[in-house]
Amino acid sequence: MSNTAKFDLDGTVYEFPTLEGCEGEKAIDISTLRSKTGYITLDDGYGNTGSCSSAITFIDGDKGILRYRGIPIEELAEKSTFIEVAYLLIYGHLPKRSEMRKFSDMLTENQILHENMKHHFEGFPDHSHPMAMLSSMINASSCFYPGLMGPASRDRFDKHAARLISQVRTIAAFSYRKSRGLPITYPKPAYKYTPNFLHMMFSEPYAEYEPKVEVLRALDLIFLLHADHEQNCSTSTVRMVASSQANLFASAAAGVCALWGPLHGGANQAVIEMLQEIHTSGDDGRRFIEEAKDKNSGKRLMGFGHRVYRNYDPRAKIIKGACDALFKALKISDPLLEIAQRLEDAALHDSYFVERKLYPNVDFYSGIIMRAIGIPTEMFTVLFAIGRMPGWIANFKEIIEDPKSRINRPRQVYVGPTLSHYVPMAEREE
Ligand code: CMC
Repeated sequence: MSNTAKFDLDGTVYEFPTLEGCEGEKAIDISTLRSKTGYITLDDGYGNTGSCSSAITFIDGDKGILRYRGIPIEELAEKSTFIEVAYLLIYGHLPKRSEMRKFSDMLTENQILHENMKHHFEGFPDHSHPMAMLSSMINASSCFYPGLMGPASRDRFDKHAARLISQVRTIAAFSYRKSRGLPITYPKPAYKYTPNFLHMMFSEPYAEYEPKVEVLRALDLIFLLHADHEQNCSTSTVRMVASSQANLFASAAAGVCALWGPLHGGANQAVIEMLQEIHTSGDDGRRFIEEAKDKNSGKRLMGFGHRVYRNYDPRAKIIKGACDALFKALKISDPLLEIAQRLEDAALHDSYFVERKLYPNVDFYSGIIMRAIGIPTEMFTVLFAIGRMPGWIANFKEIIEDPKSRINRPRQVYVGPTLSHYVPMAEREE
């Protein structure tokens, strides 16, 4: 690889250093571009922009590879748990037994919300979207832990990180119960992370919820598969907010907002709504595929396509397998699963999707699993947020520990009116 890139601009040749990541990703370091040439780069949607160097997650979108801290997602899905993966992402190595115990204890100690937080839930109207409640309540948590402000010391960071991972689950379950007018169920210290979430969601004062092992495994897998995905929209948002030295809770709340949109985490809800619409209309999927190809229809095949993957999303492959296994184990069926399988097959053989390298992504089958578990559709993206929290925290940590970290502040190419002058109201034409 050449060590420099040469640009010929307005008759002058400029040189910029090139660099290579540890997996061969090549980049041109243009940090002196503007000062040397007066030019900036323009990269709509940041498709070619490396916003940072990061040691957390590696993706090769052409080959369909995803690794957390070097470990293939397939191995983690088979052998690990969400909480072990959370530790791996945040601290960079698989925990020793003692580290795992300490981490789990911190999660348990920090799972209860400050009692005053409950009043905030009362203020939301019934049927509020739980993603709105989740981001608001995570941000409101900043008020209860003033020590959060400013770059945190390591000790404080560990505690706040554990608190956030633990409490996002508590807030999520409380938001759901509030949105349904149900009484709040408190977490149980003896329960592990995923069973405790289901307990807070579904146990009633008169009946304890007892999940099947297969259900627990499927949900833990969903959290694990969503735990990080390098510089996606919400993680970039978290890093953007963190770069201004905003606190961890404020940065994570911004991540939740970015995740909500249907082109990002909101796609899991949109997929089920799309499948439901196809089912209700009596279409076998063929009509919808035609609509998704028509740019004027305003429709897309939700759960298909990805900015980075030009191949089958490895998470989708694992989720599809888990979906089949869960349905077999629970001896259930779902017409939406059959529609999804038909849509996938049709799209994978359709030149529109083949030429554009559009494959199922993580959201295509995850909603069907969550539906089978009994999670209501409006909670799907909330579950994505619970899963993604360790990734956001790991990225936040990378920012605050980097001595070279600067506030993120892109530039723009201005295309508005050129100089014009203020006209008093009386002189403006009606
Ligand atoms: N259905 C139909 N056409 C599509 C789709 C789709 N799902 N996705 C992309 N295209 C077309 C798009 O119209 C464009 O066509 P053309 O070149 O003729 O203009 C081409 O494929 C490239 O698409 P793009 O919008 O430029 O690609 P992008 O990298 O900007 O967007 C995406 C990526 C994920 C937003 C997009 O594929 C999409 O909208 N997918 C559906 C929503 C979805 O499933 N999102 C979840 C993403 S994975 C989890 C996550 O990140 O949260």
